[in-house]
Amino acid sequence: MATDQDILGRADVNDLEAIIAITNTDVQESIHTVKDNADAIFTWDYEKGARPALNKLYEKAKTSQWNGETDLDWSIDVDPEKIITELQGNNAAGPFQWVVEHPDSPFKNFGDKEWTELGIESINWRLSQFMHGEQGALICTAKIVETVPWIDAKYYASTQVMDEARHVEVFAKYLQDKCTGFYPVNAHLKMLLDDIVQDSRWDMTYLGMQIMVEGLALAAFGFMHQITDEPLLKKLLRYVMSDEARHVAFGVLSLKEYYAELSDAEMRERQEFTFEAAVRMRDRFLQQEVWERMGLDGRKMVKILLEVPPDQQIFQQMLFSKIVPNCKKLGLLDASDAWLRRRFEEIGVIQFEDWADTGEEYLEFDAVAQDRAVAESA
Ligand SMILES: [Fe+2]
Ligand SMILES: [Fe+2]
Repeated sequence: MATDQDILGRADVNDLEAIIAITNTDVQESIHTVKDNADAIFTWDYEKGARPALNKLYEKAKTSQWNGETDLDWSIDVDPEKIITELQGNNAAGPFQWVVEHPDSPFKNFGDKEWTELGIESINWRLSQFMHGEQGALICTAKIVETVPWIDAKYYASTQVMDEARHVEVFAKYLQDKCTGFYPVNAHLKMLLDDIVQDSRWDMTYLGMQIMVEGLALAAFGFMHQITDEPLLKKLLRYVMSDEARHVAFGVLSLKEYYAELSDAEMRERQEFTFEAAVRMRDRFLQQEVWERMGLDGRKMVKILLEVPPDQQIFQQMLFSKIVPNCKKLGLLDASDAWLRRRFEEIGVIQFEDWADTGEEYLEFDAVAQDRAVAESA
């Protein structure tokens, strides 16, 4: 059985030195090459609709396409400081309240100027990571078109490739035209994306991307969408989420069939990969790059953030609110003597197991269809 050292490259999940040692070294390069180690698979079985749930998803995707250039109003003026005020509400420290009270906290001397700066850097950082993650999804989905053996899945995945191109496009445009800065890909996110792309097994692409990365993205977009009143960002997120809900459903529907046939040993490998992905995503939210750009001691900040007690990490935990129920639906929590259940208990996210899974939720999320229905009835 694999140890945490094998799975994570460190024996202790919270090993500070190992976490900060992971850095992105090629930030000056304009391309990054990863071996994708997979066979391209043709199928001669063209029976459309052999998997009705995937066929339904494909038909839905065809009619809910949108155009990032024309369906969003790019003439809207955006004031990043106003977005920050909305996100922070009347509590500038927001989710960092516990950190403010820590005896070593660099936030002790923060005034309005510093809190605004942190807010703006955090927005730039978050949207940049969304954009990089979207490119990861673009590449993973193109890979799925090649590697998945089922025709209905190839058809659906091809629509997702188009969706992801649009997502990269709109986040890049928003960052470029409306924000005040850009961040390279976070080292932990990059490591995770590389791992997903490198794995030769077709289901691992789905598990890493559709279930983990997109499951987290759907929750994160949902928060930002709920909190912001900036009309361009709000509509952009609403439309992106309407696609993302289909993508997560695609993962759940495909893997449910495939995982029903796997042995306990094979399921254990999937559980370990899921746990690795969860830890990488947790590490990513330590946002090392933001602390460094603000001239703070990154090591000290990460150390304090790792000490935050679980009941003060509501925001971080909520990001797992889509992932955990989907893992349960796929049988990943309880296979192999409930190994993943125990690991999710350790990182404090098991409480979401009975929340709604994302197999059918995409119908409610279809903002594109809703807006068209309103436009037609007007
Ligand atoms: Fe996306
Ligand atoms: Fe997606």
